Amino acid sequence: MSDGARVLDPVLKGKIMSAEEAAALIPSGINVGMSGFTGAGYPKAVPLALARRIAAAHERGEPFKIGVWTGASTAPELDGALAKVDGIEMRLPYQSDPTCRERINAGQMDYIDIHLSHVAQFVWFGFLGHLHVAVVEVAAVLEGGRLLPSTSVGNNKTWLDQADKIIIEVNRHPSLGLEGMHDVYYGTRLPPHRQPIPLTHPSDRIGTPYLECDPSKIIAIVETDQPDRNTVFTPPDENSRLIAGHIIEFLTHEVKKGRLPENLLPLQSGVGNVANAVFAGLKESPFENLTAYTEVLQDGMLDLVACGKLSFASATALSLSHEAAATFNAKIDDFRKKIVLRPQEISNHPEIIRRLGIIAMNGMIEADIYGNVNSTHIMGSSIMNGIGGSGDFARNAYLSFFMTPSQAKGGAISCIVPMVSHVDHTEHDVQVIVTEQGLADLRGLAPKQRAKLVIEKCAHPHFRPALEDYYRRALRESPGRHTPHLLDEALSWHSRYLKTGMM
Ligand code: COA
Repeated sequence: MSDGARVLDPVLKGKIMSAEEAAALIPSGINVGMSGFTGAGYPKAVPLALARRIAAAHERGEPFKIGVWTGASTAPELDGALAKVDGIEMRLPYQSDPTCRERINAGQMDYIDIHLSHVAQFVWFGFLGHLHVAVVEVAAVLEGGRLLPSTSVGNNKTWLDQADKIIIEVNRHPSLGLEGMHDVYYGTRLPPHRQPIPLTHPSDRIGTPYLECDPSKIIAIVETDQPDRNTVFTPPDENSRLIAGHIIEFLTHEVKKGRLPENLLPLQSGVGNVANAVFAGLKESPFENLTAYTEVLQDGMLDLVACGKLSFASATALSLSHEAAATFNAKIDDFRKKIVLRPQEISNHPEIIRRLGIIAMNGMIEADIYGNVNSTHIMGSSIMNGIGGSGDFARNAYLSFFMTPSQAKGGAISCIVPMVSHVDHTEHDVQVIVTEQGLADLRGLAPKQRAKLVIEKCAHPHFRPALEDYYRRALRESPGRHTPHLLDEALSWHSRYLKTGMM
């Protein structure tokens, strides 16, 4: 149904059209900035219509591809649909779509995996080329081109500001109760004119609840009425519960030692089930009056807000299950006082992360005995998702955890290896490694001390003897004794897995 109910500007009402008509305004060869962050607030109709248009062009033998820039991962209706028709020339900055992943790893699509806090400023600096069109989902179009953001803010401010032309999707599904939950900061400047960002507590509001845009750039408005993709969270498994337990025990110890206040410091947590399990664990913990300064607000965190354990959460996107989204909408007037959604250049800003003293908790694929972390690549050459915001938080955090089960693929793979097959987070940014086996606190340790602890605390007993053997021989035979390695053997675990299916 197209009734313009959420387009309050009388002039802009005249720009309402179908998704097909809007998609026809996007030519091949351009860069398109789309809204969307972790399956929330992505455009739901125009990318699908564009995919149909691209497929038709390809059937006629005409080339048609675009560059797709987003906030982070989106959904099958965007990444999936465009990747399926081979419509993406280059994708940035983070994806988790199976078809995208397949095409990237087959060498058919270029992908630039960059820190999420870098994206907006790289566009302002002109580092990524020209942004031609923005396709942004909002919850309402207000008078004069002011926009009520939807369930994520991501890079929308930058897309609206930098793109030559704008296509708006007005989704009637998100609650209008979102009004007042966003905080869009317009004070960022280019160097050398930058000023400190005036945010000193997760609950500070430093901007406006609306996105601004030049209405003359709006070339189309498309109405939709669809929920976000909604994440499916499985109840925490045994490994996730053990990982969460180790982290909570460690935090309790840090409070006792006087290195953390009783209500901890603002929490950041990555995406996925392990991260969600940590928040489920915190619910049962003695900690009260917690805060979060993070990217994505998942079910576990919403639950902590609802029960009063978490007094305030700042994020850039909601990533909720269907059930949690219903709870969120039902109690939105209460949640609005306790949740703020910001642009990702602010939610992930190194200056603020360092100032607030964040406790960062992120997932990884593997770590090596010295504490270098790979969170993006499988066997060194295939992308999984991307670095996302993990680097923004890990490098600048007060305390940085990386967590994973100690084994993958039913025990064929050790997630603790002699040398990681790709590095996203160097030993310098990794303070605590956690598996279901235990927790290695690497603060203040030299490489050889780190290696002993990582093997002892984090490796699975099945792989521990082989790691100990590698390390013992490296200590004897390595030409350098600062970070002993046997270079011929360091990546042999990965090549053995590729050859035999077993590390
Ligand atoms: N080698 C090979 N494959 C491995 C592996 C390893 N060492 N460890 C895990 N895997 C595989 C798993 O088997 C699983 O494969 P499947 O999908 O075929 O079953 C897949 O990788 C995901 O593993 P899982 O244990 O389910 O991890 P997860 O959902 O907790 O995600 C990351 C882990 C690292 C992929 C995820 O945290 C991520 O993308 N991180 C980077 C971005 C980030 O941190 N964002 C948040 C910042 S705010």
